[in-house]
Amino acid sequence: MTQTNNTKPILIDGKLIAKTLKDEIKAEVAQLLDSGKRPPHLVAILVGDDGASQSYVKSKEKQAKEVGFMSSVYRFPDTITEKELLETLDFLNNDPEVDGYIVQLPLPKHINAKKVIERVDPRKDVDGFHPSNAGRMLLSMPAYLPATPFGIVKLIERSGIETSGKNCVILGRSDIVGTPMAVLMSRKGVDCTVTLCHTKTQNVKEICRNADIIIAAVGQPHFVTEDMVKEGVAIIDVGIHRIKDDSEKGYYVTGDVDFEHVAPKCSYITPVPGGVGPMTIVSLLTNTLKAYKKEIYD
Ligand code: GUN
Repeated sequence: MTQTNNTKPILIDGKLIAKTLKDEIKAEVAQLLDSGKRPPHLVAILVGDDGASQSYVKSKEKQAKEVGFMSSVYRFPDTITEKELLETLDFLNNDPEVDGYIVQLPLPKHINAKKVIERVDPRKDVDGFHPSNAGRMLLSMPAYLPATPFGIVKLIERSGIETSGKNCVILGRSDIVGTPMAVLMSRKGVDCTVTLCHTKTQNVKEICRNADIIIAAVGQPHFVTEDMVKEGVAIIDVGIHRIKDDSEKGYYVTGDVDFEHVAPKCSYITPVPGGVGPMTIVSLLTNTLKAYKKEIYD
């Protein structure tokens, strides 16, 4: 579905969609508890004192509790050795009362993050970062899907954005967002023709101007400008940046898209904040409930 420039774009309300999904999880957990079962248990491992990581983990803990999960956070100083961290993972892998856990990234430089991710039991890998889950996703087998791409697919589905045969341009090829996003958008059932752009891509503007859907995950504020998009495009903005200003707070929050100038050309667009962000944690909760029910691996 596309619209012309004299109609307003539809703002995709990530907060509302996330709330609906959270309410569904909450109702299912309430039923489990009513039937005398224990609640699902999600653990987060936080290493060091990075401000953004602390606030993400705090939100994950809060939202897990809101849906009735048990939620624990293991905090370690950034002096923890790789060996100690791996031993903690072994402990969690063997704890039958832990359904799923995540290791908040980034990790300090002296720890090999890939080695850590590989040590997570794939059955408890609710972040969907383990090579086993990444491989299963690639093959369209049951898998824990990474939270942000999974959340974006749900946002697109629930907003009613048409995807079949559409040109989808993904900006950014990170392991966590861009690369899995390309896999999910080209899957059977979603059926987009995907172009994955990165730092070496030539003619990004032209490629974007041909897109029906743009998923921006470059990590650069206002990377997507008005001259890069066609009328009627649907845009998902994954970026989140704090820009200093003279306001009382001292900053404003914005995404990878120059919303003010781009939005009037869009059929749909996600706001920042309130678009993709709220969906990410819900995906983690969805994965944790699946882990509890042993839906992915039996
Ligand atoms: N750091 C940034 N995004 C994520 C995420 O989705 N999961 C984890 N574990 N760390 C992150």
